[in-house]
Amino acid sequence: MNAIVLRDTGGPEVLRLEDAPDPAPGPGEVVVALVAAALNRRDVFLRKGIAPSPLPVIPGSDGAGVVRALGDGVNGVAEGDEVIIFPSLGWGGGEAAPERGFRILGGPNDGTYAELIGIPAENVFPRPSRLSWEESAALPLAGLTAYRALVSRARIRSGETVLVLGIGGGVATFALHIARAAGCRVLVTSSSDDKIARARDLGAAGGVNYTDEGWVDAAVEMSGGGVDVVVDSVGATWAKSVSCLRPGGRLVVFGGTGGGKVEMMVRPVTMGQVAILGTTMGSARDFAGLLSAVRHQGWAPVIDSVRPLAEAADAHAREEAGEHFGKLVLTT
Ligand SMILES: NC(=O)c1ccc[n+]([C@@H]2O[C@H](COP(=O)([O-])OP(=O)(O)OC[C@H]3O[C@@H](n4cnc5c(N)ncnc54)[C@H](OP(=O)(O)O)[C@@H]3O)[C@@H](O)[C@H]2O)c1
Repeated sequence: MNAIVLRDTGGPEVLRLEDAPDPAPGPGEVVVALVAAALNRRDVFLRKGIAPSPLPVIPGSDGAGVVRALGDGVNGVAEGDEVIIFPSLGWGGGEAAPERGFRILGGPNDGTYAELIGIPAENVFPRPSRLSWEESAALPLAGLTAYRALVSRARIRSGETVLVLGIGGGVATFALHIARAAGCRVLVTSSSDDKIARARDLGAAGGVNYTDEGWVDAAVEMSGGGVDVVVDSVGATWAKSVSCLRPGGRLVVFGGTGGGKVEMMVRPVTMGQVAILGTTMGSARDFAGLLSAVRHQGWAPVIDSVRPLAEAADAHAREEAGEHFGKLVLTT
């Protein structure tokens, strides 16, 4: 099969298309012929060696395709089924947090930048038929993360105001859709006025450019005194995010695009009675909730661009530069 095999960390040029061995399904596994895959910021971190993984590895956590072969003991999945990949490996049965040994598909396990993938049968779910193949492939990791962050962790309610930082990002665009569908008023930040305008087209009530010095005050003013929930995948912004909250607000966090270390004052968190909620991807129950939301809520993943698998390096360069709005898709 054709696959992008990461043999060394480095710039986008290390992502090369190779002829790799076809996977065979082990017991309890299926082989899926992928139609499309999609990028996440994690793939950029993996390629640069920031998210460590043994090499060589096939990157990619997102994908959709057709079941090609079944291993022994697989029930409930048939050859020819159109499926979407659930990228949490070994989450376990609990809803509070993943078990020790939890892994993300696409490093250390071979991922979706390939024509074929062998994966446990519990990691394939029926593809939402109202989405295109590209939209289906764009959904898994980022959609799951946004769903768990807002629905399972922050427990958003209709009428609340949610501020999503960095709306150009893949997870951020899903957060906008999910919060709007829940009846929330959504505000956004971005480095780009054009991306704020695109977010308005998707239902955001307004936004502020975070390259402006006074963006926190502007966001508080726009919200009428502070937002109920901030969705923060930037990390370095935690203190500013707390300043955007109304008393008793919730800050939900899952990333460090702007830096993995946070320094902040304790007092605004304690006096403001702020809840800081960590989250990571999601359980099978979260994934089923996401797929149900997609079936019933009428929104679709925001696709930035679509390229053939062989052009994965170009897609990485675009994502790393922050030029994108939504998800970058690769087709096989
Ligand atoms: N823990 C988990 O399970 C989990 C799951 C998914 C993602 N993540 C993390 O969440 C982050 C986002 O992932 P992604 O795949 O959505 O990334 P992405 O598509 O590459 O988006 C990154 C976005 O971050 C925004 N950004 C960068 N610096 C910022 C700053 N100082 N203030 C506000 N926004 C800023 C930019 O928005 P603009 O373009 O609008 O300026 C950029 O487009 C990554 O750190 C990723 O590792 C964690």
